[in-house]
Amino acid sequence: MKCVLLAALALPVLSFVPSPSVRYSRNALKSNTRTPPATLDIRSGTGAVGASARKPCALAMTAALEIPVTARSPPQRYHNSFPWRGYSINYRVEGPEDGPPVVLIHGFGASVGHYRNNIPALAQAGYRTYAIDLLGFGGSDKPKDANYSMELWLDLMLDFIESMSRNASERWVVMGNSIGGLLTLMITAALQESGRVRGSVLFNSAGGMVSFRREEVPWFLFPVWWFFNNVIFGDFYGPQFFKNFKTRANVEQILKQQVYVRKEVVDAELLDILLAPSDDDGACEVFLKVFRGPPGPSPEELLPNIKTKILAIWGDSDPWTPLATGLHPGIKFSEYCSSLQLLVLPKTAHCPHDERPEECNAAVLKFMDGLEQ
Ligand SMILES: *[C@@H]1O[C@H](CO)[C@@H](O)[C@H](O)[C@H]1NC(C)=O
Ligand SMILES: *[C@@H]1O[C@H](CO)[C@@H](O)[C@H](O)[C@H]1NC(C)=O
Repeated sequence: MKCVLLAALALPVLSFVPSPSVRYSRNALKSNTRTPPATLDIRSGTGAVGASARKPCALAMTAALEIPVTARSPPQRYHNSFPWRGYSINYRVEGPEDGPPVVLIHGFGASVGHYRNNIPALAQAGYRTYAIDLLGFGGSDKPKDANYSMELWLDLMLDFIESMSRNASERWVVMGNSIGGLLTLMITAALQESGRVRGSVLFNSAGGMVSFRREEVPWFLFPVWWFFNNVIFGDFYGPQFFKNFKTRANVEQILKQQVYVRKEVVDAELLDILLAPSDDDGACEVFLKVFRGPPGPSPEELLPNIKTKILAIWGDSDPWTPLATGLHPGIKFSEYCSSLQLLVLPKTAHCPHDERPEECNAAVLKFMDGLEQ
């Protein structure tokens, strides 16, 4: 019970962690926008990326993005808009245009800014390095009527990968933290047949999109589970919960007590990255909807079907997605997938890529060096 409560209380934290956003550089939006993929079927690997799909284009959506700039303005660099189903999706890209592509996916409440210490290292090593804000987070749109789910984000990622590919057979490395890790597994499984993913990296992967699977909740905890879903994250009390949750002091405390072992990494920049998007219109609805939403597939379902090489980096001091306990322990991942290699980082918690970037960058670069082109 204590465990479930702790987890239920702790997870919301992340959501608050949306990122330095982006949005508001209209020039960047204008100059970097690409049209979405038109004809590709990325799952089967058929079709072709038309040249027109890659040309910068003037975007009707730009007008809708003229959001007032708030007082604390986050770092305004590297921001681009990928138009998707009528929404604007923020991403950052760095590195040589003809380098092998890599895409980084953040966790709940985080954003591209959370890869502040990884993008430059990968780009310098010659990788065309993308980081994306999932719909609802960071500098991406936060529609109140969207049905947030792992499957929705999978569709987004498949379209993004297709659209950013130089040709219809280019092979990617996909990486993700927390729910971004689970999404990485979903992408890897979806593109298994087409061979479009040549390797994947997990940083403390989540076992679901935050909410518990009903079958995973013991019967005597149903009332607690119901209470969280319908009261704490419900339409009536939820907005107040969100408001109390997203204060700078609260988020800093949660980060220092649960999310990071190295307290010095929790600096003003990290807080800005996580907090800025939480003031956006729609941020509260996204938070509550993700909490109440469907958990998506479990790692145990996905892993046995994956033959792609996976590097799973795991901080051993993570109370949220624990290495050795809980419903989806990291040490079990390699039992389900023989191509998965586990690298445990001691005295590291939920976000190893940001807490120990030197170790993670070195391990990731070595892993990518060993992959087939
Ligand atoms: C979300 O789901 C509801 C209920 O299934 C549906 O009526 C609604 O159209 C969906 N919203 C979007 C944006 O797809
Ligand atoms: C697609 O692009 C990759 C990397 O840019 C290149 O190695 C490969 O030869 C290209 N394939 C085709 C069919 O053009």
